[in-house]
Amino acid sequence: MLRGRFSEEVSNLLLDYTVDLEIEKRLALYDVRTNIAYVKALFKAGLLQKDELDLILKGLKEIEGELLSGSFPWRRELEDVHMNVEKRLAEKIGEVGYKIHTGRSRNEQVLTDLKLLLKDELKLVSCGMLFLLEVLLDLSEKHLGIIMPGFTHFQPAQPILFSQWLMSYFWGFARDAKKLALLYDDVDTLPLGSGALAGTAFPLDRNFLARELGFSRLSENSLYEVSSRDFLLDLLYIFSSMMTRFSRLSEELICFSNPAFSFIELSDAFTTGSSMMPQKKNPDVAELARGRSARVLGALSSMFALLKALPSGYNRDLQEDKPIFFEALRLTKLTLQVFPRMLLEMKVNEGGMLELLSEFTLSTDLADYLVLKGLPFRKAHEIVGSIVKYAIKEGKDLSSISLEEYRRFCELFDEELYKFLDYKFSLNRRNLKGGTSESSVRNQIEDGKKLLEELIKLKPFSDIYLEGPCREG
Ligand code: ARG
Repeated sequence: MLRGRFSEEVSNLLLDYTVDLEIEKRLALYDVRTNIAYVKALFKAGLLQKDELDLILKGLKEIEGELLSGSFPWRRELEDVHMNVEKRLAEKIGEVGYKIHTGRSRNEQVLTDLKLLLKDELKLVSCGMLFLLEVLLDLSEKHLGIIMPGFTHFQPAQPILFSQWLMSYFWGFARDAKKLALLYDDVDTLPLGSGALAGTAFPLDRNFLARELGFSRLSENSLYEVSSRDFLLDLLYIFSSMMTRFSRLSEELICFSNPAFSFIELSDAFTTGSSMMPQKKNPDVAELARGRSARVLGALSSMFALLKALPSGYNRDLQEDKPIFFEALRLTKLTLQVFPRMLLEMKVNEGGMLELLSEFTLSTDLADYLVLKGLPFRKAHEIVGSIVKYAIKEGKDLSSISLEEYRRFCELFDEELYKFLDYKFSLNRRNLKGGTSESSVRNQIEDGKKLLEELIKLKPFSDIYLEGPCREG
């Protein structure tokens, strides 16, 4: 195959090194679709007779059947999916089968197949993303009112609503979702017509090809199109961003489910036991998500490294885009599948959160109180700092210090101060947009729902509802 200009057979070692049929197989059904559209375009351009077209289409349909049933005879010596399909077609219908490659290059073909595959895969990814976002909204709504200690430097800082914490992840993942919708345009661009690098010399109707294959746009520049994998980089960036977020969420779930915290309990279905210690309940899913994020981040940097020194035009290095990308895609999809379920099943333990909430997390409120009495904040900070020191020394809570003791630190204190030593009062003071007050979080949830409605009008999110709801997971 393709040995016209060579006098020796290809070495087995070369095949070992250059061919990965498992990867090629993933593109096969898309390759048939690409071929079907392409031969119709050849016919429209007068490059195939009607009877040739019909014969080729019949052959391609048979090949599709063989691929689906698993009887397609894959041959490694044919290098890739494109040559395997072409050869099989010629076996079935004779020499005329070889006409399908008129004016075409594998360089544009592999890209077309890959983009078609991505359009399907991104439907699944966006389905998972929407489900996750819905779950975060539902949980925020369900648990609205539960108070937890918020942290800075992982030290107790100020009381927040548990739903404010949940919604912080919602907004993060929503940002990833918006990015996905933005870059989808690149995936939705038809490569066919780019030829090997210079464009196709036959009068093909590219708009027809785009319509046949469901692409919204045509690529602008043949050389850019066959040389670039920018759309994979962008997707890997989004996957990395999501996996980093899952990793951070995992880290928090691991801590929060630790008995020292007891903020949450992960369900039995999403935890494992120890082979030795009977009491253990281990958060393996969260740990593996934390670990797998490393592999997805690795894929992003691998893809950059793959591309950074390539000259214009197709280079065989580009074949490595697929193993890198497919693995990251697989891990991201799996993670997206498991997290919404795990979150839905986790038990939320209000008592555990309250237990860790020390009144010292209300120190800022106490300082604010003095500010409202007219003191500059820095001065108020210093006074409350001394009160905290005193309380620790005396083994007291802020609310068990008497007014008389308070007044020793500052004359401005009066009875009203105790009102500020209340968690609910504290968080409800933070009622600007984005804050942790109950009304602000409620507004966030409403805004979040509106965002979801906007999102499902955009591709790839809009595609999935054609195939039924995502909730089935
Ligand atoms: N297997 C190749 C890839 O994935 C397909 C394109 C091959 N083109 C070529 N000129 N050898 O990139």
